[in-house]
Amino acid sequence: MQVPSPSVREAASMYGTAVAVFLVILVAALQGSAPPESPFPYSIPLDPEGTLELSWNVSYVQETVHFQLLVRELKAGVLFGMSDRGELENADLVVLWTDGDSAHFGDAWTDQKGQIHLDAQQDYQLLRAQRTREGLSLLFKRPFSTCDPKDYLIEDGTVHLVYGILEEPFQSLEAINVSSLQTGLQRVQLLKPNISIPALPSDTRTVEIRAPDVLVPGRETTYWCYITELPDGFSRHHIVMYEPIVTKGNEALVHHMEVFQCAAEFESFPHFSGPCDSKMKPERLNYCRHVLAAWALGAKVRALPSISPGGPHLCMRASKK
Ligand SMILES: *[C@@H]1O[C@H](CO)[C@@H](O)[C@H](O)[C@H]1NC(C)=O
Ligand SMILES: *[C@@H]1O[C@H](CO)[C@@H](O)[C@H](O)[C@H]1NC(C)=O
Ligand SMILES: *[C@@H]1O[C@H](CO)[C@@H](O)[C@H](O)[C@H]1NC(C)=O
Repeated sequence: MQVPSPSVREAASMYGTAVAVFLVILVAALQGSAPPESPFPYSIPLDPEGTLELSWNVSYVQETVHFQLLVRELKAGVLFGMSDRGELENADLVVLWTDGDSAHFGDAWTDQKGQIHLDAQQDYQLLRAQRTREGLSLLFKRPFSTCDPKDYLIEDGTVHLVYGILEEPFQSLEAINVSSLQTGLQRVQLLKPNISIPALPSDTRTVEIRAPDVLVPGRETTYWCYITELPDGFSRHHIVMYEPIVTKGNEALVHHMEVFQCAAEFESFPHFSGPCDSKMKPERLNYCRHVLAAWALGAKVRALPSISPGGPHLCMRASKK
């Protein structure tokens, strides 16, 4: 079987150099999709009354979701999170609660009986809590994957969001009795494919980075690493967009691709095409870690912020040879 490779489209240029790029492909396993301009392109009410409104954005490069939870008519707190089928048992939660004197925010989880526990690893990061005219607005973020077995893995597809409204103070997180709360669930696709292709400059150039002739091993998950060099004399470029190229027939197998730029301090990099965990993988490839492009299942095109002087831009830098 042949496997994929992303193409990187680019525009505008300056100096000359060769840049090694390193492609890692995850075959068979995770998530998907592309984001836009406003801080929170997505929004959904959680409960039928609209007391809780969730807005969010997704960074596929940082693999992080920013959530903004608006709590209208806040009483004593709120819990919000995710679970496999929308139950409040075995759920991954953030909880805002008060003991009557002060307010607390924490990453928590419930066991199979619905008992809440504070998570040893705090992966939801509270960035802001603000009273607005509409209610209390909480801004927090979380990586897709936290490597914490108590945490939900945010993936492409439907995610079951759960919520609960705390009507009265609790002495501690553990004292909250989930079955006595007003709770509910909302199904949502957190990672959304959103394709908006901006007009490209007329001097846009397309570069394809492919990992040719890869035989997909008969294992559940394989990370395939492939190193390649951009053409000789390849100058400094701004990347304005990238999109995947997946060999027809392999669409369901290819889950994830990342393109890394190799450290500029080395003149050359050894060629390699093989499983990323292979003992044959050259040590030097550990210097290829600067992420240029990241693609996940479900995503099609990823346009990067437009180039304006002083504005945000991603640019490929390389030292002169
Ligand atoms: C993509 O995002 C834009 C801007 O946020 C929005 O107007 C548009 O409806 C979205 N498209 C899809 C398919 O979700
Ligand atoms: C998501 O929203 C946060 C908070 O407003 C903002 O800092 C961040 O840049 C946004 N990320 C994306 C990918 O839009
Ligand atoms: C939790 O609340 C439910 C329903 O209100 C009640 O039946 C149960 O006994 C409570 N559990 C504890 C430990 O207080």
